Amino acid sequence: MTCATDMETTTAAALRTDRAGGPTVVLGIESSCDETAVALVRRNTDGSGTILSNVVRSQWEQHRPFGGVVPEIAARAHIECIAEITGDALATAGADSGGIGWAEIDCIAATAGPGLVGGLLVGLTFAKGLALAHGKPFLAINHLEAHALTVGLTDAIRPPYLLLLVSGGHTQTVLVRDIDDYHRIGSTIDDALGEAFDKTAKILGLGFPGGPAVEAAARDGDAARFALPRPLHGRAEPHFSFAGLKTAIRREAERQQPLDDATIADLTASFEAAVCASVIDRVQLAHRLAGDLTAPVRDLPIVVAGGVAANKRLRGALETLGAECGVAVYFPPIALCTDNGAMIAWAGAERYVRGLTSELDVAARARWPLDESAAPIIGAGRHGPNA
Ligand code: KG4
Ligand code: ZN
Repeated sequence: MTCATDMETTTAAALRTDRAGGPTVVLGIESSCDETAVALVRRNTDGSGTILSNVVRSQWEQHRPFGGVVPEIAARAHIECIAEITGDALATAGADSGGIGWAEIDCIAATAGPGLVGGLLVGLTFAKGLALAHGKPFLAINHLEAHALTVGLTDAIRPPYLLLLVSGGHTQTVLVRDIDDYHRIGSTIDDALGEAFDKTAKILGLGFPGGPAVEAAARDGDAARFALPRPLHGRAEPHFSFAGLKTAIRREAERQQPLDDATIADLTASFEAAVCASVIDRVQLAHRLAGDLTAPVRDLPIVVAGGVAANKRLRGALETLGAECGVAVYFPPIALCTDNGAMIAWAGAERYVRGLTSELDVAARARWPLDESAAPIIGAGRHGPNA
C-alpha cells in the first residue's frame, strides 16, 4: 500500500504539471445507496463542466419487495454491475470516436461516504483498483459535497451560496464558502426530508421509492383539505423536523380508513404543502443567518440539491420565495438531483485542480458530515448528528 500511495502521489504531481491550465477528465463512481452510477466529466479550461457520459442503474426493483433499501442486497447489486456500468460509461463518452480511452482520463473519483458501508466499499475498492491498474490519481469524495457542488457543473455557479440539501439521509442548510469550506447552519433534529416522503408513501401503501410516488399521488389533490403541522415554523433555531408530520399522516390515514384514491391525493398534497411551508420558513431564516456571516445577504444565492430537490411543488415554492425576496435560486436538472456519477466526477475535478488528491488507503465512512466542526444537534435522531 505504501508503494501504491507513493506512485499515486507522483502521478498526480506529474499530471498536474502536464495539464496545468488545461481541461481535466474525471471518471466518477457512486455506490453509497441504491444507485450504481459511473460518469465521465470534463472540467474545461474556463472552469465550466461537460458531462461526457452519465450511466445510472437503479436497484429499485430489487428493494421494492422489502419496502426500503436492504444494505446487503444493495452491496451485492453494486458488485454485480459496477464493471459493466464502467464499461458503458467509457463506451458512451465520445461514442462518435469509439469511446474514451484510459489515456484521456486524468483521475478517478469515488464516493467514500456517507452512506451504506457495504455499497461504499464496492465503489471505493473498484475505483482504487482502477487507479492502481491505470496509474491514475485517486480522489475519495464526500457524497454531500458532490451534491453541494453539482450546480457548478450545470450552471457555473461558484461559492459563496446557501445550500439547501434535501436527500434521503440528510436535510440541512449549509453556507458553502468555498470548496472544502462549509459552515452548517441548520439540520434536521429527527427524520431527513426524503425519509419523510418515503415513510409517508409506506403508510399510504404507495410503494417504493416514496418521493416520486407521493409526488405522483399528490398531483390532483386538494392541499387545503387536511390541516397538517408545519414543523418548527417560526422557531428561532434554524433546524428542521419531519417526524411529527409523518405521525400526523399516520393518524389521519387511520381516521380515513378505508383510504380511497381521492383521499390519498388530498393527504399527499396536504403533506407536500406542509413540507413546503416548513422548508420555506426554515430556509428564509437560514438565509438571513448565512448572510450575517457573508454579506450582503441579497447577493447570496440559494442552491437546492439532493433527491428531494426533484420535487416540483418544493421547487415551485422555493422559486416563489426567490422571486419575492429578490434572491437567485438554482436547482440542478432533475436527473442530477438524485444520485449519479457525474456529481462525483465533478467534485473530483474541483478537488483535483486544487491539488487535492487522496491516499489509496482511505477508508469508507458511514458518517461524514460536510462541516465536521458543527456540534451535534440536540434531540437528533438517526441522521441528525450526521447532518
Ligand atoms: O439524493 P438521493 O438520490 O439519495 C440520498 O443521497 O439519499 O435522495 C433520495 C431521496 C429519497 O428519499 C427519495 O424518495 C427522494 O430523494 N426523492 C423525492 C423525489 N425524487 C426522489 N422526494 C420527493 N419528490 C420527488 N420527486
Ligand atoms: Zn444523494
